[in-house]
Amino acid sequence: MTRREFLRFGALSAGIAPTILGSSPARASSYDKYSAALRRPLDPDGGIEEVIRFATLAPNGHNTQSWQFSTAGDEIGIRPDLSRRTPVVDPDDHHIYVSLGCAAENLALAASATGRTGEVVVEDNGFVSYAWKQGRIVRSPLVDVIPSRQSTRSIFAGQPASASDLKQLEAASAEHGVRVAIVTDSNEISRLRDLVVAGNRRQLADPAFVAELKFWIRFSASSAIESGDGLYAPVTGNPSMPEFIGRIGFSLFFDAAAEDDKCAAQMSSSAGVAIFLGDHASPKHWAKVGRAAERFMLTATKLGLATSFLNQPVEVPELRSELAALAGEPDLRPDLLIRFGRAAPMPYSPRRPVGSVMLPA
Ligand SMILES: Cc1cc2nc3c(=O)[nH]c(=O)nc-3n(C[C@H](O)[C@H](O)[C@H](O)COP(=O)(O)O)c2cc1C
Repeated sequence: MTRREFLRFGALSAGIAPTILGSSPARASSYDKYSAALRRPLDPDGGIEEVIRFATLAPNGHNTQSWQFSTAGDEIGIRPDLSRRTPVVDPDDHHIYVSLGCAAENLALAASATGRTGEVVVEDNGFVSYAWKQGRIVRSPLVDVIPSRQSTRSIFAGQPASASDLKQLEAASAEHGVRVAIVTDSNEISRLRDLVVAGNRRQLADPAFVAELKFWIRFSASSAIESGDGLYAPVTGNPSMPEFIGRIGFSLFFDAAAEDDKCAAQMSSSAGVAIFLGDHASPKHWAKVGRAAERFMLTATKLGLATSFLNQPVEVPELRSELAALAGEPDLRPDLLIRFGRAAPMPYSPRRPVGSVMLPA
């Protein structure tokens, strides 16, 4: 049985024997309801919890949600939750601080839309604070697309982005201490594609990487809802299936070559690729990169463009210098590779409830 056959079997088993195997269309639709509730529009009268709910809808590595929020008076803090590290793919916690920056951006947008005017401050250690004063409501159009932004991992439509869209994306990602190179030339995208595939190949040849990835996959709707974290199979284009079948099947039939092909097609179908690079390799700059990248992704969403990360050449240290050179910044460490283009939405990722990410007052 090949991996594709296994996945087909998973789809069949979910449909044919739902009661025996524990998966059913009812569960899938309960996931849709759960997901829609997570992404309900911002309630402007909803208090600080509502602002933090919007912050948690930010992208974050492996959907570990390695963040903790605190509130003290008129200040909200965000700090890393190192109990949720992914030491194989992210040994220096780079992705955690980038994710904190993405969450900080959502937090500031949602806080301003509820009349809490303030400023994001990122400390040298990458911790974030947002001190606010009650003031007038400032509702950026970006706040309305926070619930619909997602990492869309499908093959895109292959259409180019307009010059006006590219200009807006570039303007949105401006951040002191962060550079962004937006690549749309098809030859350059092909070179980037080769780097992504080379990185993917190396990662999937590492049993520790694969084991860590598998740990964070949620094969069934019920396990995704229960944990509220991780990579729910349909989000990555695979069918939902009972957890025990998924775990066994993943180990037996995981097909690295098919994953390489998928990465190549994802890159080749994109309108463009944005490479983000901080001026320094430090938690503070990684969080700044996250802020810039989140504005980029929200702006893309507003423009009707899908985005998703293909960070393999960022995560495999030996590939970083070539990526930096392609971005025209040979002296910097690249932080993110985000592709963009036209695509229909995919199922959405789970999130933990706000109460689970709050530090005790
Ligand atoms: C720093 C960082 C690195 C990421 N790297 C990858 C990646 O290499 N490949 C990928 O498919 N998704 C990557 N993601 C996307 C996350 O898996 C995704 O944000 C998370 O699962 C939540 O899903 P959502 O973005 O759809 O809300 C990354 C996200 C962040 C913030």
